[in-house]
Amino acid sequence: MAEFVRVAAVAEIPDPGKTLVEVDGEMVALFHVDGAFHAIDDVCTHDGGPLADGELRDHKIACPRHGAKFDIRTGAALSMPAVRPTRSHDVKVEDDGVWVRLREDHRAAGPAAHSASGPVPASASVPAAAAAPAESAASATVIDRAPLAASDQPLCEDVVREMLKEVKDPELFVNIVDLGLVYGVTLGDAVDAPGKRHVAIDMTMTSPACPAGPQLIADTKRVVGTRADVSAVEVRIVMDPPWTPDRMTEAARDQLGIF
Ligand code: FES
Repeated sequence: MAEFVRVAAVAEIPDPGKTLVEVDGEMVALFHVDGAFHAIDDVCTHDGGPLADGELRDHKIACPRHGAKFDIRTGAALSMPAVRPTRSHDVKVEDDGVWVRLREDHRAAGPAAHSASGPVPASASVPAAAAAPAESAASATVIDRAPLAASDQPLCEDVVREMLKEVKDPELFVNIVDLGLVYGVTLGDAVDAPGKRHVAIDMTMTSPACPAGPQLIADTKRVVGTRADVSAVEVRIVMDPPWTPDRMTEAARDQLGIF
């Protein structure tokens, strides 16, 4: 088991207050609230945001990148877009100092912790071009067509958006329209298929390195491509403007328990 490491003098950290410390080569966010100290990894489990740079309110810290909140006492993820806990650590006060001992649990819960030799800076982000899922911009797939049912409405942006509600984020179980991931839908005449439409969908991810990206792209193409009047579906991944939780609809917030 790891040993306690003295990381600060009690008097150095105001109440309420927070600071970033190094323990055994890892960066840890240390908090002082209501007379007690708490320590969690300086890593947001959504996409590695630096929690010590976030806004502290009572026992909650908000990730400065996309706003996920964590409980500083337990590391529990309290709000979207984080769904997994970050690691919490043992803390004691002794000889006017604050001591932290790393815990091993939750180590695999999210992105790798910052190492002291190479911390991820607050502004660090994976370049969209490098991190977007491989099957992204300007990729179009010709679809096996199903017959157009008599009850189908004429193809338009609203119909496409309605169909896209069948595509759900595999971790959050909320559809991509209500999550606010669909930025735009453009319909054009298909050059090689008279009378049919080419559908281009601009969509984003909750983070550039979203592991669900390839699945969301494939599901989007499959769902829209079932229409007989669609010749091809193009999915373009857009990371600017970046997704933020306020893009979610009320339905999504209700589903996720966010008020
Ligand atoms: S990196 Fe923390 S909410 Fe996205």
